[in-house]
Amino acid sequence: MPDTIAREDLGRLVHPDRVHRRLYTDPAIFALEMTRIFGHCWLFLAHESQIPSPGDFVRTRMGREDVIVTRGRDGRIHGLVNRCAHRGAQLCAAERGHVQAFTCPYHAWTFALDGALASVPHRQSLPPGFDLKDPRLALATLPRIESYRGFVFGSLAAEGESLAEFLGPMTEAIGNFVDRAPLGEIEQAGGIARQEFRGNWKLHHENANDTLHPGFVHESSVAAARADKRDYATPAFDEHQTHTQMLSNGFGVREWQSLALTGFAGGHSYMGGFYKGGVLAPDRDDPVWRDYRAALAARHGEEKTARILAEDRFNNLLYPNVSLNAQYQQIRIVQPLAVDRTRVIAFCFRLKGAPEALFHRAVRFLTNLSSPASMILSDDIEIFERVQSGLANGVPEWLDQSRGLATDRVDNSGRRESTGISELPHRAQYGAWLRYMTGGA
Ligand code: FES
Ligand SMILES: [Fe+2]
Repeated sequence: MPDTIAREDLGRLVHPDRVHRRLYTDPAIFALEMTRIFGHCWLFLAHESQIPSPGDFVRTRMGREDVIVTRGRDGRIHGLVNRCAHRGAQLCAAERGHVQAFTCPYHAWTFALDGALASVPHRQSLPPGFDLKDPRLALATLPRIESYRGFVFGSLAAEGESLAEFLGPMTEAIGNFVDRAPLGEIEQAGGIARQEFRGNWKLHHENANDTLHPGFVHESSVAAARADKRDYATPAFDEHQTHTQMLSNGFGVREWQSLALTGFAGGHSYMGGFYKGGVLAPDRDDPVWRDYRAALAARHGEEKTARILAEDRFNNLLYPNVSLNAQYQQIRIVQPLAVDRTRVIAFCFRLKGAPEALFHRAVRFLTNLSSPASMILSDDIEIFERVQSGLANGVPEWLDQSRGLATDRVDNSGRRESTGISELPHRAQYGAWLRYMTGGA
């Protein structure tokens, strides 16, 4: 039984320099994570642009819960657990769509966009006291749901820290994401990439800001980019972008060392200084970028525009399960399915008021890095599955995460800083893991 894992036992599984293999392989630990982490934290649900009109909905997951996010008649956003209040059938099988109401496929109970029971067939067969307004007959709704600049988050816990407290300094990452739009708004656009891997959910976030792995794991695409001797002086934009991205993964130790990693007590982290001189550099010069920059300056003025574009955070990891990249308008969402099975969902956004070619770059980035046809996430997934297979061995019991430990600078708030060659993000994540799992102890 998951609740029988004592605090002290959990405490023995996590150390600053190492974590125990049970964190990745033990179904009881996974069950407890679904309650204490995914049942507690604010989780990203959807972007408001995905459900602009009343009746629009998207589906997502919050730990074990299958959740429908709807826009109600009054314009408010609701989170509904996707389980009919009658006999428990899954109500909605579509990933997104538009409805007037949700009608269950089993006996046709019909629920309104806010989850209230609206009608049932054959009313005369039900007892006289049967009341459509009885809250026990409505869909279960999320106790808390809130937006931050268009990003909708929900929590399965009725009480706890506010969304702003939970996001902490990561609100700046969301702010910068939206500020990059010349019209001040972003919208989800293009396709949605979904992949599953046979590995634990924590492997994704450990890897995303792990600055030592790219030269090894992504060696094949680095080598192909290095072998490509075409002249990109007059860049065909998308090719130039792909080429530079692949080359960046081949950084040497000195270049990785020049990056800055920052982590927080809540488990969030980001990598600063990546692609400094590449296609994402704020001082780049090509026709698309010039038009985009001019549109942004028309809204914000030169000084603020320079500040917005200079914000250089690659992979803003929101613990436990979201990764944001403002520079290329990307999001990845990690959904745990079982102790050894995880789904990754990725999509990108259009910056309203920016040249359409900029959106094409975002789509290209998504394809290259996060789609099933990618040259990057597919490599990482191969490694996640190899880690999971390796951990099926009972020994050794521990996974090392000591790289850079001696040079982490930590302040009183738990904010950590280190250079690029460090497992700082792991330490931030497992510090938060332990706090959530032991109820803050
Ligand atoms: S289970 Fe949904 S109406 Fe019966
Ligand atoms: Fe990678």
